[in-house]
Amino acid sequence: MNNSRLLTKIKRLSKKLFKVKSPDTLIAEGKKSELSKTLTVWDLIILGIGAVIGTGIFTIVGIAAQGGPEGVGAGPALIVSMILAAIACVFAALCYSEFASMIPVAGSAYTYTFATMGEFMAWMVGWILMLEYAIGNITVASAWTGYLFQFLKGFSHILPTWVVNPPIWLINDYRSATIICQREHLDPNIVIPHFLGIPISINIPAIFIVILITYVLTKGVKESTKLAGIMVGINLLIITSFIVVGMFYVKPQNWVPFAPNGAEGIFMGAFLIFFAYIGFDAISTTAEETKNPQRDLPIGILGTLIICTVLYVVVALVLTGMMPYSQIDFQAPIAYAMRFVGQNRIAGFISTGALAGLTSVLLIYQLGTTRILYAMSRDNFIPKSLRVVNKKYRTPVILTWIAGVIVIIGTLFMDINISAELCNFGTFTSFIIVCAAILVLRKTDPDRHRPFRVPFSPLFPILGILTCGGLMVYSMGSLKTSSTIFPLWLLIGGLIYFTYGYKKQRELEHKKLKMLRKGMKAKSKKQ
Ligand code: ALA
Repeated sequence: MNNSRLLTKIKRLSKKLFKVKSPDTLIAEGKKSELSKTLTVWDLIILGIGAVIGTGIFTIVGIAAQGGPEGVGAGPALIVSMILAAIACVFAALCYSEFASMIPVAGSAYTYTFATMGEFMAWMVGWILMLEYAIGNITVASAWTGYLFQFLKGFSHILPTWVVNPPIWLINDYRSATIICQREHLDPNIVIPHFLGIPISINIPAIFIVILITYVLTKGVKESTKLAGIMVGINLLIITSFIVVGMFYVKPQNWVPFAPNGAEGIFMGAFLIFFAYIGFDAISTTAEETKNPQRDLPIGILGTLIICTVLYVVVALVLTGMMPYSQIDFQAPIAYAMRFVGQNRIAGFISTGALAGLTSVLLIYQLGTTRILYAMSRDNFIPKSLRVVNKKYRTPVILTWIAGVIVIIGTLFMDINISAELCNFGTFTSFIIVCAAILVLRKTDPDRHRPFRVPFSPLFPILGILTCGGLMVYSMGSLKTSSTIFPLWLLIGGLIYFTYGYKKQRELEHKKLKMLRKGMKAKSKKQ
């Protein structure tokens, strides 16, 4: 092949890869949506808080303060980490708000990318969002099991031992079970049974809750948000009780030394605790089910972020003030802090409430996964037959179950730390892309009606890219395992696009062209 032919081929290919879908087409498709429009601004804020408050503040906060197996912690400077993570989120939240009000259709960052950077980047973002939503839910499901046993231990006097203390291989993934064995000086090869030479360790409660949540979601979005509403109420109640009771036990000497691991601890803490903020963006996945999306989506997204940031900063201050940071617990830090100061009843109450918080995150993330898959199937990236919407409940039943199965399979192979880190990498990347997409659309389509505009653009979107990118790149130096898996995930996504997605897009193009020609023929015959 001579050089000019090769050049033409490359040009043709890149034209296709970067072919955008006009926001008008997206909006028109959204209007044809079969999903029911029932959500109000309050439903959105409930969904938002339900998606945000969960594993991050109930579990990961301990690792962010103390440090984990692959990175140091922030110590009492956790509050600075909290603020840093919130700043990164604010810029992204503003960008999400502009998009959500301008293109109110399901699919979130995936859809926004299709409108600005073309089909290849859109596919990659959809693929990355699976890290945020589906892999993120592996973290939450694992934490759910942890709190379930905290809760059951409160009834150890009436429950049989096999319920309160089951074998570790029935309540943990293999990696976590091995770590527990090592910690307790047990031989994992003896404790964990083998079948045909393969070790069997399955987190059964996590699988059970994912199946239950998936079932609830197939029964309708309004019903699911009603359930989330109750859980969010319990959630807010336990966080406020922790703050109000804990405040009286704060000893300022616990805040000294303030930053025992210096800037490194603060940045690693900010990277990890970012997990606690993720979720406000999930609101945008329900755009097609919102009654007045242009007004309500920005209020929902920003309102959620403000409420959660205030609560988190105070929790960080109280938690690190109640006990020396080196004694903060890893598995249930908030409940443990109450036990530490002798408030056992409140500790029990917090463990119970945390279960509700984690359940609501699971519910909303499953909803988000399904809605992104729904948008991707509309673009032919996923077979149309999987998109069927149940007539009675108006929910995409098959996609909902697919989302459930992805999480169930994931719980078999990933532990809480790796899944949380991967979820953060995925979310940071999608935030960066959304901030960049705002800059692109302001240039390519400056006159489009924007019911909400990011203030101080291009400064704010650029700051969003820098803060999210900075935290991500910084942490990659320490988190060896997840920062190896993340590029592999991207590579697999790219391979799937070039071997499958690209072909499917061309088929769709061909079909549309055929229909257009048929329409024109019919028109000319009539004339
Ligand atoms: N922000 C959510 C949580 O902390 C993902 O569980």
